[in-house]
Amino acid sequence: MPKTCPVFSASEHDLDQCAERLRQDEILAIPTETVYGLAGNALKESCAQAIFAVKGRPLIDPLIVHCASIEAAFNYLHLHPVIEAVAKNFWPGPLTIVARKQNSIPDIVTAGLDTVAIRVPQHPIFQQLLARLDFPLAAPSANPFGYVSPTQAQHVQKTLGSKIDGILDGGPCTHGIESTILDLREPNKPAILRQGPISQSALASALKRPLPDRSISLHTDGPQCAPGQLLKHYSTQTSIELFVDHPPSINTSAPSSSKIATVFTQRPQASDQAPNSFWLSESGDLEEVAHNLFSLMQKLDRSDYSQLNIQLAPNIGIGLAINDRLRRAAAK
Ligand code: TXA
Ligand code: MG
Repeated sequence: MPKTCPVFSASEHDLDQCAERLRQDEILAIPTETVYGLAGNALKESCAQAIFAVKGRPLIDPLIVHCASIEAAFNYLHLHPVIEAVAKNFWPGPLTIVARKQNSIPDIVTAGLDTVAIRVPQHPIFQQLLARLDFPLAAPSANPFGYVSPTQAQHVQKTLGSKIDGILDGGPCTHGIESTILDLREPNKPAILRQGPISQSALASALKRPLPDRSISLHTDGPQCAPGQLLKHYSTQTSIELFVDHPPSINTSAPSSSKIATVFTQRPQASDQAPNSFWLSESGDLEEVAHNLFSLMQKLDRSDYSQLNIQLAPNIGIGLAINDRLRRAAAK
């Protein structure tokens, strides 16, 4: 049995213990409303180093800084009226803002960039933890580099449990996919760097200007405009093929046919049901699809399927973020 780490609950006693461990520079997995994060003191170089090492993440890929409040977050950014307006509109919540940084954030956290990615999370248990600390927490998603992000404490225990100091269990994450990242390096030229639970259209209407999606260019050979936006990401060990309307037909007499799992966004018609069919939502509700996606991908990856056929979502709202994750997961 691989070594496991202690699991803490949301009791006052356990939250006090987690806060004390973080003050002692330990690295803990914590729940957020998006996915679980791998957290340590964002103002200490040694903690950031430990996070990169545990995750196996290259040092060129910067971390997100999580703050207890909007006021706290504003200590670490160069403020601008556009940034203030967006923050007040969407924080606390699943939106990360990239902006010019203050010097108190160590260079290692931002991979040497003069910008920092910051968010104020909405998860009540994470908020209670941050309120106990007088420093922000750097936290990438708590998955080994390149693998699917964790949406439950047990996902973290299975992959990183032997390498970290503890897990704060806050139950399953509501959104199930990572925060939207908004580039406000030049506040009057905003752009999306990663699609997520806050939709491009909600942001564009709050900003009252067009909002280009710079994550799309990363599907091509064009220049990378954000570090870490790798084409191949969120990958299961089992290979993934995507489909739009109907799954590729499975030859049921072939010996390997039972090894293929087919994942639909909603309950399929009987004529479309392949031998091992799963669906992410009964009705096709896209919030529910996002909530269940990474969890089902990990469950199927731990079963003995040789291939996962997964249906793309409609390209609207959070469907854009779901499809972004699926395309990267299926990249060879
Ligand atoms: O929902 C989330 O955002 C979760 C939870 C834990 O908060 N965190 C998360 O972190 O997804 P991570 O490290 O897995 O993804 C953060 C992304 C990376 O692709 C990183 O390259 C990008 O944010 N990033 C961080 N700092 C940046 C910066 N200064 N400029 C551009 N991109 C940045
Ligand atoms: Mg990640």
